[in-house]
Amino acid sequence: MAKLQGKIALITGGSTGIGLATAKLFQQEGATVVVTGRTKSSLDEAQKELGPDALVIQADASKMKDTANVVEQVKAKFGRIDILFANAGIAKFGPAAQVEEQTFDEMFGINVKGLFFTVQAALPLIPTGGAILLNASIVSKKGLPGTSIYSTTKAAVRSFGRTLAAELAGQGIRVNTISPGPIATPIYGKLGMDAAGTKQFEESMAQSVGLKRFGQPEEIAKVAVFLASDDASYVVGTEVFVDGGLAEL
Ligand SMILES: NC(=O)c1ccc[n+]([C@@H]2O[C@H](COP(=O)([O-])OP(=O)(O)OC[C@H]3O[C@@H](n4cnc5c(N)ncnc54)[C@H](OP(=O)(O)O)[C@@H]3O)[C@@H](O)[C@H]2O)c1
Repeated sequence: MAKLQGKIALITGGSTGIGLATAKLFQQEGATVVVTGRTKSSLDEAQKELGPDALVIQADASKMKDTANVVEQVKAKFGRIDILFANAGIAKFGPAAQVEEQTFDEMFGINVKGLFFTVQAALPLIPTGGAILLNASIVSKKGLPGTSIYSTTKAAVRSFGRTLAAELAGQGIRVNTISPGPIATPIYGKLGMDAAGTKQFEESMAQSVGLKRFGQPEEIAKVAVFLASDDASYVVGTEVFVDGGLAEL
């Protein structure tokens, strides 16, 4: 039997990359998916790929009004959220000495504040037996030059995952954090570095990984299915590194 049969899953930032790959695999496992994102063209493309059964909503996770609207739509259509994958996030890299306040606020606004209030808004719809997955990153464990704000936001996500898990375990809601290593998604085109800098960063990252390659979004999606399903019924509050060995080797 499919692992997520009949489940309703909300995936923020589900229009591209890890979120989209996860939405597809969740569907294959029997879930009905709701995905969000900001860019209309990506959302239209995602709707085509996910088909008419998927609810695709344009929403900026850093805006409380947008998040409230997403939850309202899911409530009206499905009445509950069995699985929440708080995945929407951005990455902008550069030396700490050159980081501007606006970039700091933008990164924290989406990666931390947006994630936090997405969870808060969704909680009333998450029943006993529900699962919350937070997307953090390996960068909170490693000192990678140029990633200071991004790493700080992801360390906050991981910390929140622990506390939230402790708060919700008694209600039968499991919270876990996924920390991907370098995964081949469109995020690397949005780092704020020039093409040569991005290429150099990608090459050095691939060499740092035990498996000497980037991961694929589907390799994160498989772990998300596991954590969201009953296969992970005794897995709570943990951080799963899906990183080709980057954290430990
Ligand atoms: N790829 C990696 O190597 C890697 C490693 C560790 C962790 N991660 C994390 O994985 C998550 C997904 O990233 P990805 O690699 O799949 O990159 P991606 O392809 O750029 O996907 C990011 C998704 O988040 C959405 N998004 C960004 N800001 C948003 C906002 N304010 N409101 C709503 N949606 C928003 C994007 O849609 P729009 O473009 O329309 O905004 C897109 O759907 C992020 O949290 C990222 O930090 C990625």
